[in-house]
Amino acid sequence: MENNQPLGVFDSGVGGLTVVKSLWEHFPNEQIIYFGDTAHLPYGSRDPQEIIAFGKEIINFLLKYSVKAVIAACNTSSSVSLSFLQKEFPIPIIGMIEPAVRAGIKKTKNKRVGVIATSATANSGAYERTFKELAADVQVFVQACPLFVPLVEEGRIERRETYQIARSYLQPLQEAGIDTLIFGCTHYPFLTPVIRHILGDEVQLVDPAEEVVMELSSLLKTDGQKKTVPQHLFFASGSVASFYTIGKKFLNSYPLTVEHVSLDEQGRDDSLSRKTAST
Ligand code: DGL
Repeated sequence: MENNQPLGVFDSGVGGLTVVKSLWEHFPNEQIIYFGDTAHLPYGSRDPQEIIAFGKEIINFLLKYSVKAVIAACNTSSSVSLSFLQKEFPIPIIGMIEPAVRAGIKKTKNKRVGVIATSATANSGAYERTFKELAADVQVFVQACPLFVPLVEEGRIERRETYQIARSYLQPLQEAGIDTLIFGCTHYPFLTPVIRHILGDEVQLVDPAEEVVMELSSLLKTDGQKKTVPQHLFFASGSVASFYTIGKKFLNSYPLTVEHVSLDEQGRDDSLSRKTAST
């Protein structure tokens, strides 16, 4: 693995930016090529075969930038397609599920852990399986929250309807007596103020991004080689304007530029004309 090659990160939308923020903190010298597959969002209500096909297209596209490793910063893609993608491509591909479970195990005291996730992730059983492998004594309660991703992508965070929806999703987990809640979708850290308000301080919230970065650090020998601040690249397959608006808010002062790309099966850029949104 050449240190000066970039890292690829992908998600169905802006959710993977929560992982990018952690990457920037730990690896400020690493260049990131980010792909948000907003044309196909939400992944959570899609068929596993479709999600696998999207993952292949995206990684083929990222490989054109000679990425040295890819982070599937999407629990939905990780839960249904990680093993297929790892077999298909010759570079390391890191998923979200194992790091998230490890983070949950570290935090729980009463061994009752909740996971909020998309429907596809919940239906895959990936969290239950991974907890069984890593800590069979922990009881895991998985709750599908299909409306959360659209709410985040539309920037409807601290709204009355968002609180109402969140209350109904979180109630069964509160009743189950969890002391730890894993964000089993990279979009959900955007909803932290809402979830924190509903659950109070007794439940620990786990954003797995930190643990994912730890996994990456065991792969990367040093903290990148670039001595200048790297130029990160952001691509979206759907509207660049909405990706830009939410992304900009989240990444604060970063001079974000988002380029539109639609991919064919080989990850070839199929766009008739490229559009960008930037600061
Ligand atoms: N951020 C993705 C995840 O972690 C959201 C998937 C979706 O588009 O539904 O699961």
